[in-house]
Amino acid sequence: MVKKMEELISFLKTNGFVFQGSEIYGGLANSWDYGPLGAQIKLNLKNLWWDFFIKSNPYNVGLDSSILLNNKVWKASGHIDGFNDPLVDCKNCQSRWRADKLIEEKFPEVNAAKMSYQELEDFLKTKEIKCPKCGKTDFTPIRNFGLMFKTQQGVLEDENSVVYLRPETAQGIFINFKNVQRSLRKKLPFGIGQMGKSFRNEITPGNFIFRTREFEQMELEFFFAPDDQTDWFAYWMTMVKKFLVEVLQLDESNFRFRAHDQTELAHYSTQTVDVEFDFPFGWGELWGIANRGNFDLTQHIQNSAADLTYLDPTTNQKIIPYVIEPSVGLERLLLAIFCQFYVIEELKDGTSREVLKLPRALAPYLVSVMPLQKNLAQPSQKIYADLLASGINATYDETGNVGKRYRRQDAIGTPFVITYDYDSETDQKVTLRDRDTMEQTRVKINDLVDYLKR
Ligand code: GAP
Repeated sequence: MVKKMEELISFLKTNGFVFQGSEIYGGLANSWDYGPLGAQIKLNLKNLWWDFFIKSNPYNVGLDSSILLNNKVWKASGHIDGFNDPLVDCKNCQSRWRADKLIEEKFPEVNAAKMSYQELEDFLKTKEIKCPKCGKTDFTPIRNFGLMFKTQQGVLEDENSVVYLRPETAQGIFINFKNVQRSLRKKLPFGIGQMGKSFRNEITPGNFIFRTREFEQMELEFFFAPDDQTDWFAYWMTMVKKFLVEVLQLDESNFRFRAHDQTELAHYSTQTVDVEFDFPFGWGELWGIANRGNFDLTQHIQNSAADLTYLDPTTNQKIIPYVIEPSVGLERLLLAIFCQFYVIEELKDGTSREVLKLPRALAPYLVSVMPLQKNLAQPSQKIYADLLASGINATYDETGNVGKRYRRQDAIGTPFVITYDYDSETDQKVTLRDRDTMEQTRVKINDLVDYLKR
């Protein structure tokens, strides 16, 4: 596990995973761009989530709803009135902070999220919590700060043209519940999942890609009948754990489940369990599993003209399904993956190497092809082209000595390197090097595709 965020950030930038957003103009605070390798690994992660939670799950289907929704959706969901954070200003330097985060950073054992605004103010005062910027302890009273990003739709800029960028993908699912259920003739229980951008005007974004104002979510809303006796909450907790351990190969000692107590629950939830990951800056929420009951469908039924009920085919009764929601941030999950798999390994010869020990399915490239010398480029490129044609995610590298090229591929997480050398000319075999064991084996060129697809 990586110990320092700075080390990881510098590594990811040098190797083309993540760049500062708007860098050439001095950056835009807390925005990040994903380079070629970052974009590929994000796509791999999304595909793994989709394959696991949608394609290979017997209950679930996918959706891709809009980012901009009718404002009535956000009114009904409670976001316009209730999606706020407690904001304080430092009276000395005017910097702005989230009161609960100021407290939790100083007193990690305190759960400030469950404190009332008065309790937060009292705590800040009595514990003399300092402004992280100027060190003074004089803050304004707490104000509600709305987290929704506002923008305008159309040519007229008046209050009727105001729309919001979605702060969660979930509402797009709830408002399409009936469309999906009817068009696919789905019977309860079933889930609808989607992934896509969400936006929150966070007061204190930070910790690199952990908390940003623009991020992607992968969310599943799983609908079931109120009288269904199955413990779907436990089922989805198990599935999330299975995905983390078996698909992403995250070490169980690096994450834990933590149940919210009553005061911490979001307005829509009757039960929430977070998966928390042991990040270099401490334990942080990775994945939330919430029991949303029938809150959202009920709200939309009451606030729209739509009938979002479900007609139970056996009882012929109209019911409002209950919902379990496992929701995760793509970039936050990616950060956990980087934290676990980026290692600096001491070697027997006294040197060290940087390795990104990614599972194969996440690695930007499965294999790199290289000629031992540049004059062997032509047959090496032929192998490279054949691998690409067979659907294998390969790259080609002929710059620098072989040792350096191995190190470069280790650092970007490529599980295998193929080297074409002078013997290959006669025996039609290449050297295949394993990233993790560094063992080398000779493999027939004709067997490469089968070998790599195993
Ligand atoms: N639909 C429920 C929902 O949005 P949430 O706990 O607010 O619940 C779910 O968010 C997940 O989205 C979090 O567990 C986290 O992984 C991710 N997330 C939330 N806010 C984020 C932010 N500002 N930056 C990055 N990821 C975020």
